[in-house]
Order: sequence, then structure tokens, then C-alpha cells
Amino acid sequence: MANILCIGAGYVGGPTMAVIAKHCPDHRVVVVDINEERIAAWNSDQLPIYEPGLKEVVEEARGRNLFFSTEIDRNIAEAEIIFVSVNTPTKTFGRGAGKAADLQYWEKTARRILDNSTESKIVVEKSTLPVRTAEAMERILNSNDRGIFFDVLSNPEFLAEGTAIADMEAPDRVLIGGRGTSWGSNAVTAIADIYAHWVPKEKILTTNLWSAELSKLTANAFLAQRISSINAIANLCERTEADVTEVARAIGMDSRIGDKFLKAGVGFGGSCFKKDILNLVYLCERFDLHEVARYWEQVVEMNEYQKASFVSKIVDAMFNTIAGKRIAVFGAAFKAHTSDTRESPAIDVCRALVEEQAEVVVTDPEALANAQMDLADLGDRVRFEPDPMAAAQGAHAIVLLTDWPELAELDYASIHATMVQPAFIFDGRNSLPHDELFELGFNVVPTGSVPLMHFQDRPNSRAGFSLRRH
Ligand code: NAD
Ligand code: UGA
Repeated sequence: MANILCIGAGYVGGPTMAVIAKHCPDHRVVVVDINEERIAAWNSDQLPIYEPGLKEVVEEARGRNLFFSTEIDRNIAEAEIIFVSVNTPTKTFGRGAGKAADLQYWEKTARRILDNSTESKIVVEKSTLPVRTAEAMERILNSNDRGIFFDVLSNPEFLAEGTAIADMEAPDRVLIGGRGTSWGSNAVTAIADIYAHWVPKEKILTTNLWSAELSKLTANAFLAQRISSINAIANLCERTEADVTEVARAIGMDSRIGDKFLKAGVGFGGSCFKKDILNLVYLCERFDLHEVARYWEQVVEMNEYQKASFVSKIVDAMFNTIAGKRIAVFGAAFKAHTSDTRESPAIDVCRALVEEQAEVVVTDPEALANAQMDLADLGDRVRFEPDPMAAAQGAHAIVLLTDWPELAELDYASIHATMVQPAFIFDGRNSLPHDELFELGFNVVPTGSVPLMHFQDRPNSRAGFSLRRH
């Protein structure tokens, strides 16, 4: 039996350790955090995050070999393997502000591990970190004169929110980076053995430390790049009567391109894509690779443009003003099946709509509480309504920003009847049945194809809309 500790009980630490505990009943897994409220929630029926299947996994292992605790020091002392899954946000101050990763939580954790250890341990980077962070960590941890040695490994996490449990249960790969020394390879084997309880051995990939660290940033950069690429093409589709869904299908059937991550929309959100790309950009700049840095930075710039141009489309279509108009925002989460609103395009779009003096009412099946916190500074200029039917009542427009299936399955005929006419729907996720909604009387503005309007649009419309039907 091994004593496994995870420091950081967030979106990654909680679900990953729950799945490890489920599959490794012979190991004791403890998850600690400085946030007492969060730990209390992990020990309750109301878990701090919403993830399909998470509750079942937690309930199976909690109290058996899975424990959530705020006793960090004692648990460090007892652990043989320590995963570190603290947050690594973008730095907001000093050198590299706005781009570099803020490593203060990570470094504090390393020092706390050092202060509370009397025996050698394996320390695993689970957080996403700049390439070569492990080197600094090794120096801090192994600067002791107590004769104890720390192996630092990189085991980046590739799970996506909303599918965290499914991704952990059947990962495309598990990546473990370590030193090529015998110490290092023993440590790599110890971590690989944990995953081998349920992951096929051929999916457990071992590399050198720096490749593992850089692979994580690269994977996120490539995924985000695909979204920005298809969104760039969506803009061209809107001007040319091509349909981005058809274009995506056509290119996705090329096996070299593949059909995943080609869904055009209002832009990518989530806590990681933007921060990880900016981190990559910063690294390139530090290594004097300025052209390479500009190349990746453009992925983020395209995403910012996408959100801004989406709001412009709304204002343009609604006769150049949304001041005083009620707008129902359907979806606050950055994607479906999560309560997470970090970097959600919905939050930026809400702010831009308020800027235009619209009366914004937000609804979301799981993320309303988080959205309320994110937008608290806007006071009563944004309201929050759990019932989408009530949110849309008296609205001039519905703006769909999260691809929740339940939002696509609403009774839109009834909703239409309660809205101010002409009623608009702006589909920022292309997840609604556009033709059906048009038949019900809505003016429908999809992403990356021409709008379905019941009236003649202005020829000089800034978004350059053309008409599909009259
Ligand atoms: P999170 O903010 O949800 O959780 C981090 C937790 O660490 C918080 O609860 C915080 O209180 C705790 N913490 C911070 N400093 C601490 C300390 N010194 N001691 C104990 N606890 C401390 O973050 P997250 O979304 O779980 O992300 C964690 C890391 O994993 C990040 O590097 C992120 O880039 C990466 N990652 C995230 C995802 C994801 O889907 N969210 C996926 C893959 C990788
Ligand atoms: C992403 C990666 O998919 C994970 O592999 C990675 O571990 C994680 O980041 C991380 O490092 O944090 P996540 O952000 O949870 O996972 O969710 P995604 O499914 O990647 O979606 C990100 C954003 O892109 C969402 O806003 C989503 O709506 C958008 N998206 C996704 C599109 O606009 N189009 C697509 O085709 C796919």
C-alpha cells in the first residue's frame, strides 16, 4: 500500500484522485487544500464542482481509501507520493505580467513539502507548468541537508471538464516524464504502476521531464488553435454564404485533419487554453523566439475578436441598438456539463451587452451561482434566473452561449409567444435547430452561416448579413 497525497482539491485534484482511489483500493489517497470551505464540500453531499459521474466515484471511495482534509503538514509527512495540483494562473504583476505563469502557489507548496518531510518522496507535477519548472523544484526540494531526496516527475493532466470522469477512466494516454537516472526511472515506474490498475500499459507513455511539461502546453495550444482556425473561417462564411458546419464536415472527413474540435462558436473559454497559450508565448519570448511567440499569440487574439464580433452581430441585427432591451443569455458555463465559468465567453458577452445598456438576464442549469459571483460588480444590471422560460419572457433576444443539450430542447414555440417581436435568437454555439426556430417565427443568427431573417436587412449592415429567406 502506498500513501498518496494530492495538494490542491480543485477541478483536477478532486476528480483525478477520486478515480485513482476507486481503482486502487490498496492505496490510501488523501486530498488536501488550504480552502476549508472546499474541503468541507468534498466531505459533504454537495461536492464543490459539478461533473457527471463524479458523485458516484467519490461516494464509492470516500471514507474507504479516499480522504479530503485541511491537515496539510501531517499528510505531507505521511505521504510517499505527492501529486501537486494547485492552480497556476497567469501572472498579474511584475515581469511577464499578463502572460507568464504565476508560480507562487506551486513554489509555496514545494517549500511546505520540504519543511514537513523527514523521508525521501516522489513529487509529481499535476498542475500545468512552464517547461523546465521541475528543475527549479528539484533545486528547492533537494537543497536540504537532512539527507532526503525528492524525485520530481511531470504527469500532466489532459482531462476536459464536463467529461472529467470519462476521460480519467479511459484516457487517450497517460504521460509521465522523469529523469533518465535509475532513481528517476524507479519513480516513473511507481507512478505508472498506479495508472496500470486500470489504464492499458500501451497507453502509459513515459518521456523525459521537459517533453512531458512541454507536451501539455502544446496539446492545449493545438486544440485552441483548431478552434480559432475554424472560427476564422466562420467569419468568412458569414460574408460569402458558405456554411461553416458544412466546411467543417468536409475538411474533417480528411483523416489527416480529423473531425474533432472543429465546432465554430463564440470562442473558447475555460481556465486553461488562454493561460497556457500565453504561457507558451512568454516562454518563446524568453528564448528570443519572437516569430514563434507571435504565431501562438494570434490564436488568443482570434478568440478575443470572435467574442467582440459576436456582440457586434447582435447590435447590428437588432437595429443598431440594444439599449433598454431585455436579452436572455442562455448559458453561462464555458461549455456544457460543467458549473465552471472561468474565462467563459458568456461572462465577456454579458459585460459587453451591459456596456450597450441592455437588460441582461442570465440562465444556466449548473453555473448560475458562479456567474453571479463573476458579474457581482455589475449589480442589478444583470439578473439571474434559473428557469430559461422565465428568463426569455419579455425578452427581445435570446443569446445562446453554452451548448447545454437541455437548452436546445426547450419549448421554443411557447418561448417565442412570450417574447417582444420581432424576436431574435443568436446561436453562439450552433447547437439549436435553426430552420425549426425560423419556422416558429424567430429571426435566427447562427455562427458561420447566413442569418434566417423574416424581414429585409439593411444593406449596409456592419456584419454584412445577407438574407436566406424573406
Ligand atoms: P483549481 O483552482 O480548481 O484548484 C486548485 C486548488 O489548489 C484550489 O482549491 C486552491 O485552494 C488550492 N491551493 C492553492 N495553493 C495551495 C497550497 N499552497 N496548498 C494547498 N492547496 C492550495 O484549479 P484546477 O482547475 O484544478 O487546476 C489545477 C492545475 O491543473 C492548473 O495548473 C491547471 O492548468 C491544470 N489543469 C486543469 C484542468 C481543468 O480542467 N481545470 C485540466 C488539466 C490541467
Ligand atoms: C481543455 C482540453 O480539452 C483538455 O485536454 C485539457 O486538459 C484542459 O483544457 C486543461 O488543460 O484545462 P476544457 O477546457 O475543460 O479542456 O474543455 P474543452 O472541451 O477543451 O473546451 C474548451 C473550450 O473550447 C470550450 O469553451 C468549448 O466550448 C470550446 N470549443 C471546443 C469550441 O468552441 N469548439 C470546439 O470544437 C471544441
